Amino acid sequence: MRKDLLDVYDLELEDFKSIFENARRLKAMQEKKKAYTPLKGKTLGMIFDKSSTRTRVSFEVGMYQLGGLALFLSSRDTQLGRGESVGDTARIMSRYLDGIMIRTFSQEMVEEFAAFASIPVINGLTDLLHPCQILSDLFTIIEKKGTYEGLKVAYVGDGNNMANSWINAAARLPFHLALSCPEGYDPDAGIFDRGIKAAKEGITLYRDPAEAVKDADVVNTDVWASMGQESEQEARAKVFRPYQINEALLSLAKKDAIVMHCLPAHRGEEITAEVLDGPQSVVIDQAENRLHVQKAILEILISREEK
Ligand code: CP
Ligand code: NVA
Repeated sequence: MRKDLLDVYDLELEDFKSIFENARRLKAMQEKKKAYTPLKGKTLGMIFDKSSTRTRVSFEVGMYQLGGLALFLSSRDTQLGRGESVGDTARIMSRYLDGIMIRTFSQEMVEEFAAFASIPVINGLTDLLHPCQILSDLFTIIEKKGTYEGLKVAYVGDGNNMANSWINAAARLPFHLALSCPEGYDPDAGIFDRGIKAAKEGITLYRDPAEAVKDADVVNTDVWASMGQESEQEARAKVFRPYQINEALLSLAKKDAIVMHCLPAHRGEEITAEVLDGPQSVVIDQAENRLHVQKAILEILISREEK
């Protein structure tokens, strides 16, 4: 595996497998309340330019459970927020820390940080990508369905960081991805074109959400206005209305289809309360798995630095 985790497109099949296997092992250990502290004495910095519940708590708790320490670094309170360069910050933080997680707006900033840092850099969400979430979602699919291989995964809604990350995962792993986004809200064109060429089981983009959801094994959605797009909320709500995951749309999927959402959700917008809180929804387990998968990533990236 590379030094950094910036994009799942960078991962080899073996990397996916080792993350999932490690997450399974760590989750089983935690369920047995077995202490395991391979990151004793290690410190993770966490730079947040955007809000977070799951990512912050799971990284911070995960680091603690592995025997290390996590530092919450809001950009408002660091010199980064006052214009100190990314390069200087990355080089200096590399002298204090053993790893860094960044949640920010621009993917380029995270890439620049990683280029200057000598320690592992983990992308905790940008406007373009959310790789830790996708790894956790795939791990959840393996738990619930046994495998992702040969499944039809539908993603309905905005062509945002989650849609782009699903495309990157489908470019690397053998499942079929059926996307449905309204016109004007497609995923990133470069990621999509690269993805359809590389995809093992195909990637299809439909305008009609019914076609994407038909016979799907997994039905996914995400918010219509992501962090940073709050001012577009009202206009988007009108355009996206036909893309809501509700019982009628879900009835087109396989009977045993699971419903996923990275959360936070807006009940009554991208998904109805009946579906989000219904029997096919796995969203709480999906959120729990962020912890186990984050720990798996931290252990692999940070303890490997020793060797
Ligand atoms: N899914 C996710 O990343 O949640 P947070 O924004 O709460 O971290
Ligand atoms: N697309 C959402 C995901 C939140 C976890 C956002 O970027 O706000």
